[in-house]
Amino acid sequence: MDFDDNLPVASSDASCDAADARTCDVTILVCSSCRDETGSDAHPRAGARLAEDARLAANGKNIAVRGVECLGNCKRRLSAALIRDGAWSYVFGDLNPSSGEDLVAGAKLFATSTDGLIPWRGRPDSLKRGLIARIPPLAFIKEDK
Ligand code: FES
Repeated sequence: MDFDDNLPVASSDASCDAADARTCDVTILVCSSCRDETGSDAHPRAGARLAEDARLAANGKNIAVRGVECLGNCKRRLSAALIRDGAWSYVFGDLNPSSGEDLVAGAKLFATSTDGLIPWRGRPDSLKRGLIARIPPLAFIKEDK
């Protein structure tokens, strides 16, 4: 993993309270530290540009966008996660600085899901090819004993 405390962190002006993910339908976490394909240290980092692109795409959609410093997925380039209270969590990689619309499209699908999963049908191709992992909610594990 690659950590840098001085990286910019994207804020959200979504219609929900980004500080409390439970008030939003879905929260998109974007790694603001990810570099572009050249590995450049230039700022803003490609990940920060993706966070800003997602923030703009999410405006007014009850979807929060927050920047984080590393999602531990550095080898798969630009990375983001989609989280929703009580639902599965998803990590995506191989994104680019203009993938914000795709992340928001996935978040909107996720928000309408009744089974806690992001529907495959209608999911942007980047969120099909770039799926790294999905993680069940803790309640799912407890119920599965
Ligand atoms: S720097 Fe590690 S996932 Fe972006």
